[in-house]
Amino acid sequence: MTYKKYALVLFSVALAILLIQCSKALDGKVAASLPAAEEAKAAAEKKNHSLVQEGKQIFRFDTFGDEAFWSGVLHLDKAIAGAANGGYGPGVSPNTALAVGLKVDAEALPPEVVAGIQSGAVRLDDPATTLALLKLNAVVGVKATFELSGGLKSVGITCASCHSTVDDSFAPGIGRRLDGWPNRDLNVGTIVSLSDNVQPIADLLHVDEPTLRNVLGLWGPGRYAAVLFVDGKAFRPDGRVAANLIPAAFGLKGLELTTYTGWGDISYWNAFVGVLQMHGKGSFSDPRLNDPVKYPIAVENGFYNVVNNPDLLTSKLPALKAYQHSIAAPSPAPMSFDAGMAGRGKALFLNKAQCAACHAGTLLADDKLHTPEEIGIDDFDAKRSPTGKYRTTPLGGLFTRSRGGYYHDGRFTTLDDVIGHYDRHLQLNLSAAEKRDLKEYLKSL
Ligand code: HEC
Ligand code: HEC
Repeated sequence: MTYKKYALVLFSVALAILLIQCSKALDGKVAASLPAAEEAKAAAEKKNHSLVQEGKQIFRFDTFGDEAFWSGVLHLDKAIAGAANGGYGPGVSPNTALAVGLKVDAEALPPEVVAGIQSGAVRLDDPATTLALLKLNAVVGVKATFELSGGLKSVGITCASCHSTVDDSFAPGIGRRLDGWPNRDLNVGTIVSLSDNVQPIADLLHVDEPTLRNVLGLWGPGRYAAVLFVDGKAFRPDGRVAANLIPAAFGLKGLELTTYTGWGDISYWNAFVGVLQMHGKGSFSDPRLNDPVKYPIAVENGFYNVVNNPDLLTSKLPALKAYQHSIAAPSPAPMSFDAGMAGRGKALFLNKAQCAACHAGTLLADDKLHTPEEIGIDDFDAKRSPTGKYRTTPLGGLFTRSRGGYYHDGRFTTLDDVIGHYDRHLQLNLSAAEKRDLKEYLKSL
């Protein structure tokens, strides 16, 4: 071996040893740091998971103490029970409950109840059955408490009443829970009207009882008028009742603006609803509502700064938000639209039809406000919001909102109407075939 070769071999051996040592050292470093990082990640995931689970329970079952309103003021517990069970009136049988859009969680029913419903032994025309279902915590969004003697003590409502439905897997209105899906069958106005004591609401709005009952009767299924209880506007300038469609509470992660008119972020709005609409015992503050011209009802009642002690809501807002943000927009059944047409429709959505200018990104929403002129509609509902504008609705899971119409007040009955509106307003010159393709794409979201 020449000296040169010998040196080369020595050098190679040294290099190899060095490399092995290095990689060992690196291994050691990785081995030491990986578990720590993974542990932290796992811990964060676990924490978020438990926050989501907590939020799910709150979303489904927490009334924030609103029984004081729904039972204490409106006596809805007594209306549900009926005269035969210590209340008043005919009572609310399961059939009546289903007819006003309430849903039954089939997974909360024990096998003997399921068998009884199937055989007819469990009577769905008897309010006593509703009480049994409430005891099982099976009426979605309605939380009941019972006396030790077994009688109904009180009922309250939860977020799920409006923002959950069921998949009808057992029977129409009875099935597995679908949280976040708007309950477009729920007739909130009719349910409130079951009360023998709506006078306090009439007083709040400075109307007489028949006027209030008329308004409640006009809302119709899937609609509710949240802003009415701060500005007192029950009707639109064109004389139609002012009530907005219940929106989805899914597919909102990543959006700062919530509601049709962008009142605020999700926790702002959750507090607004929990305190001012559900009448839960929470705290809520918004100086924008301290405006006697725009929000006379809020000013008269101090709704711009509500403090409850104890506060049964505020500490729950992070979990509630985590749960809502954990619910992705659902996908429609693959057979419910024509995939080929939807593909062409997507290209139109992104380009010629200009939809993606606002319905952008994965959420199909730009998280921005738009003037009424931009989208070609009147400014009534926008002007009732502190923002004065409309927020782009995220379009994911649009199929879950196919009943009740589109846009905040359901003014467009069908997707054809929506597309026709944009075609005219944005002067898109879409052909009939292009409109059909665009519609299939909307159905695929
Ligand atoms: C009586 C029915 C009802 C109840 C109960 C209710 N909501 Fe709503 N929710 C609505 C309506 C109607 C709107 C639309 C408000 C608007 O923009 O005019 C809405 C809007 C929302 C939005 C905005 C969605 C979006 O697209 O930005 C979220 C989020 C939401 N609600 C969550 C909740 C949570 C959480 C609760 C329980 C604390 C709750 N809601 C209770 C009817 C209800
Ligand atoms: C300038 C911004 C903008 C453009 C462009 C736009 N949208 Fe919208 N879109 C909005 C806003 C804002 C709303 C909410 C309107 C309301 O609720 O009153 C909305 C609502 C909708 C809704 C109703 C969703 C629901 O659940 O009620 C559909 C469907 C829709 N847009 C589809 C489209 C399509 C299809 C196009 C293209 C042809 C399009 N949009 C173009 C801003 C826009």
